[in-house]
Amino acid sequence: MLNTSPTAGRIESLWDDSQSAGMSESELLLYRSNLLGADKRVTNFGGGNTSAKVTETDPLTQQEATVLWVKGSGGDLGSMGRDGFATLYVDKLDALKGLYRGLEHEDEMVGYLPHATFNLNPRAASIDTPLHAYLPYAHVDHTHPDALIAIAASKNSRELTETIYGEEIGWLPWKRPGFELGLWLEKFARENPKAKGCVLESHGLFTWADTSKACYALTLDIINRAIAWFEQEIGDKPVFGGARVEPLAETDRRAVASRLMPEIRGLIGAGESKVGHFDDSSAVLEFVGSARVTELAALGTSCPDHFLRTKIWPLVVPLEKGAASVDQAVADLGAQLDAYRSDYAAYYERCKHADSPAMRDPNPVVYLMPGVGQVTFARDKATARIAGEFYVNAINVMRGASSVSDYFGLPEQEAFNIEYWLLEEAKLQRMPKPKSLAGRVALVTGAAGGIGGATARRLLGEGACVVLTDIDADALEATRAEFQDVYGKDVVRAVPLDVTDEAAVAHCFAEAAAEYGGIDILVSNAGISSASPVESTDLSLWQRNMDILATGYFLVSREAFRLMKRQKLGGAIVFVASKNGLAASPGASAYCTAKAAEIHLARCLALEGADHSIRVNVVNPDAVLRGSRIWAGEWREQRAAAYNMKPDELEEHYRKRSLLKRSVFPEDVAEAIYFLASDRAAKSTGNIVNVDAGNLVSFTR
Ligand code: NAI
Repeated sequence: MLNTSPTAGRIESLWDDSQSAGMSESELLLYRSNLLGADKRVTNFGGGNTSAKVTETDPLTQQEATVLWVKGSGGDLGSMGRDGFATLYVDKLDALKGLYRGLEHEDEMVGYLPHATFNLNPRAASIDTPLHAYLPYAHVDHTHPDALIAIAASKNSRELTETIYGEEIGWLPWKRPGFELGLWLEKFARENPKAKGCVLESHGLFTWADTSKACYALTLDIINRAIAWFEQEIGDKPVFGGARVEPLAETDRRAVASRLMPEIRGLIGAGESKVGHFDDSSAVLEFVGSARVTELAALGTSCPDHFLRTKIWPLVVPLEKGAASVDQAVADLGAQLDAYRSDYAAYYERCKHADSPAMRDPNPVVYLMPGVGQVTFARDKATARIAGEFYVNAINVMRGASSVSDYFGLPEQEAFNIEYWLLEEAKLQRMPKPKSLAGRVALVTGAAGGIGGATARRLLGEGACVVLTDIDADALEATRAEFQDVYGKDVVRAVPLDVTDEAAVAHCFAEAAAEYGGIDILVSNAGISSASPVESTDLSLWQRNMDILATGYFLVSREAFRLMKRQKLGGAIVFVASKNGLAASPGASAYCTAKAAEIHLARCLALEGADHSIRVNVVNPDAVLRGSRIWAGEWREQRAAAYNMKPDELEEHYRKRSLLKRSVFPEDVAEAIYFLASDRAAKSTGNIVNVDAGNLVSFTR
């Protein structure tokens, strides 16, 4: 039996005395927090928080004050900096107890927290602040380790906690984080002075100690003991009721994902564009292929962090018969999603309060595919990926809990109270407005070149995910690495592609579907240039222009049409043609004719695409010398020779030749492409935009 759970194996201490020597208490807290957050077995992304009660000098009175440094609202332990901590006077926090009017008023306590701020620290204190503030210990870790949540989400979690830890670690029943839970924790710690921590039912772990180093060591020790206990208990026993559907081969799994993801994306993306993430790790495959997947998935996730990201339940796509079930699954998807949405609406209606925020998007986030893996969809790639990671956490939890006990999700009303918590809603409202291409996926050909690269950068800057493609694999990889540094690794993918290769084009779009769920924007830009009087143009040169420029543009747009039509979300295609496609240019008939073919192909596709909301437009650059690889080679020399000048005089020549007397840069072309690809041009199709600083011969007429 597979034992691939990430809960397996011990967590090694990363504490290095030579690094921590000389650090202040707040620096030690940051060091410890980053170490804890570095291992997802300790805590999930953004989950958990840490604190230290530190003696500081009050900037106003110059007296000593005890200050709580505690991870503030938002942020992630693994990547946070010192500015991620809120700082609050402990005595002022203590004074809040006098203002507390009881459980039904606990949310109002959040409003008092800013009054306890030390040193004008702008970092907002989180809802979890009271959970740290009142514990009578200097250092407190609150983490969400899968192994501990597996205990916390077992039906007899109290007994399990006692069995594993005796009196060392206590147990408190489920309580939504807030002021009341802070008081519960304090009471527990004062009544149980020997306890070193506490399991919170359906939630996670608290541990405390007198120094940062001791607290870190304790947290790891408690987690490692849980991991060891589960390993011993589960051993080689089958988990999740044993396997029912064997995983398909890796390439088949990916093929099914790329088939299904655009269908799902289309059915859930009409209101808000969504990006997908596919995971076929062994932990996922073990769960989705198991006998109990449907039953356990229906119980919902447990830790609040989990279902805030994953929604209360996933959707199980019936793929029991492997690849043979795919067509049926596609056919049934619409009805399945309708059923999910009405179940979600019914859950909202059952649980809502008079002041609950309006129902949010009722579509599932997590899609479980037996034999294939798991797909998650969210408004951007990072959110989709993180939701997937959280569901893997939930799988680990279910694996442990269901093997040693009965797993139970959070009661529905409690889950709702967290999901639609007014404080949670306020957090959502504070989030910045999404960028104009958030949730969109673009594919750019010739992306390692000047105009393609500038275009990818422009689209990435507007929040799109971009699949970079180019025939030059080395230059493509360099471009990918550069963009990854700036925009992060979630939003950029690179697939080497020769646009004249029919099979490679199909593969490239399938990759885009498996990586992101589909595409919304195609920028067909890959190109070459050539110059040759007609009588000396040999057939191979003619054919090369036709292949790359005319046929290449046909192949990528045909595949884009196929994918966009399956998604039924419309789409935008932009062709980068040329001034030479409109205006004849001497000694370049093959290039000019192929570029003219591109322009006319765009017109034809605009006509065919309109009924499907697929817009097709053209941008015509001219004389974009800087950044262009075309202009780095012999084309530049040929053009310079044609005008009887030196190659480095050419840019000035073109500038002077233009009506506006300005040079054209790749970024200028990218701007027009972005416009036509975005909703700003929602009502434009079949259009041509010249970006050539004005050239009478290419005026459209
Ligand atoms: P560039 O040479 O910098 O970029 C073109 C990219 O296309 C290169 O990275 C190249 O490796 C790639 N490519 C070539 N053949 C390919 C194939 N078979 N499959 C996939 N990728 C391939 O050139 P630039 O200036 O960025 O040109 C982009 C587009 O703009 C081209 O279609 C070009 O014809 C057009 N254009 C450029 C003008 C200029 O002055 N730079 C003027 C008018 C049009």
